[in-house]
Amino acid sequence: MKNEFSTVDEQDLAYFKSVVTQMNFFTEAVILAEYDHDYTEDLHFKPNVVLIPETVDQISRIVKHCNSRNIPITVRGAGTGLSGGALPVYGGVLMSMEKLNRIIDIDLDNAQATIEPGVITQVFQEAVAAKGLFYPPDPASKGSCFIGGNLAENSGGPKAVKYGVTKDYVLNLEVVLADGSVIWTGANVIKNATGLNVTQLMVGSEGTLGIITKAVFRLLPLPQRDILMLVPFKKAEEACKAVSTIFQAGIIPSGLEFMERDALLFAEKYIDGIEIDIDETDEAHLLIELDGNDEGILIKEAEMIHDLLCRYDCGEILFADSQAQKDKLWKLRRSLGEAVKVNSIYKEEDTVVKRAELPRLLLGVKEIGTRYGFKSVCYGHAGDGNLHVNILKGEMSDAEWVGEKLKKGIREIFELCKKLGGTISGEHGIGLVQKEYMDIVFSQREMELQKAIKQAFDPNRILNPGKIWKD
Ligand code: MLT
Ligand code: ZN
Repeated sequence: MKNEFSTVDEQDLAYFKSVVTQMNFFTEAVILAEYDHDYTEDLHFKPNVVLIPETVDQISRIVKHCNSRNIPITVRGAGTGLSGGALPVYGGVLMSMEKLNRIIDIDLDNAQATIEPGVITQVFQEAVAAKGLFYPPDPASKGSCFIGGNLAENSGGPKAVKYGVTKDYVLNLEVVLADGSVIWTGANVIKNATGLNVTQLMVGSEGTLGIITKAVFRLLPLPQRDILMLVPFKKAEEACKAVSTIFQAGIIPSGLEFMERDALLFAEKYIDGIEIDIDETDEAHLLIELDGNDEGILIKEAEMIHDLLCRYDCGEILFADSQAQKDKLWKLRRSLGEAVKVNSIYKEEDTVVKRAELPRLLLGVKEIGTRYGFKSVCYGHAGDGNLHVNILKGEMSDAEWVGEKLKKGIREIFELCKKLGGTISGEHGIGLVQKEYMDIVFSQREMELQKAIKQAFDPNRILNPGKIWKD
């Protein structure tokens, strides 16, 4: 690990304050504590100073100074990340993007929008929806997460199964580089075969290559109709097996979510006013959404799905009959992560395999848990083969929780993902907590190549150090 960073001294602090002004400069312990964690496990790392810039020029000046002084910078969105990407593991500057929160332009003629990274994802979605447009990526935390964090982690969410993830909507990015220079990565066009695709390199790079200060997105027409169905299954494995059948029938749902019984029970307890009938013998549910503009087609597809799922020993399907009911079911689904967290500290593994391998992944995870002595609660984006495996601390001692045995168990889960044609993160990123497993999916040569790219962008390794790669 690199630890030859400079200590932030009084002169550095005076400079930072002169750039962002007193009101956006914080060194008080109570404020630092607000920015020392994200949603990942129970991890805390204190920065030396929190800066909340309001302009690109301020960011550029701060970065330039840090680069010349060898001070680490960790950029933070809303802090909803699940792999520790926003944790300032070496201290230094924590730069919050919360004040770069403008929707600069919604271009109706070209179905594009230009926005700043501190815009909340749902706020953006609602702003474009008001104009009949659609920005599909919808992470579970869409009501609080920032677009900048979504770009950093290449976030997905339930709609990814039909509409793709954050990267699929990015046309162009304004980025502050490690030396303080400001660049645009591409052009505001749908087609672009011009040189290397730096735009896509930035997306998912977790703040290690540059600081995104503006993003141009392409948008779609807003679908007008949807159907939502909740389907119980006696066997979780059958629910997983049913998933690929739906696609084989030529249907692409706009959401196809898997929820294990325990996850649903936690969520029911966690959210007031939502009750669903969970039969004691149901091991899992699928939540399936269809969207489009033609109600007749959607009903026909829902009937086809109903007939297909009957072959997998499903129970009675609940069709949401009002917008309020749809909202409740989605709220239930979206709060699974928080609900599990309230019950126990957990480590979340963002496993992903080829869709048809999902049953094997689920069985394997449970078998590994039995062998290594941990309990897991699973849910996720079944249509993408993306299963969030939440390993509960429960009765485990602190030593066991950070010990080698549990790490070995997690390693086996990831090795299974690789064996099933998948990888170790579908949408949460590598950040801090998964970097020790990168060797499972990348050879030494492949890792060298990635590190060489990092070196080209950030030779002093000041941008979000300690993430993605082991130093
Ligand atoms: C989800 O699908 O709910 C999100 O990725 C968040 C989580 O897993 O906690
Ligand atoms: Zn997810």
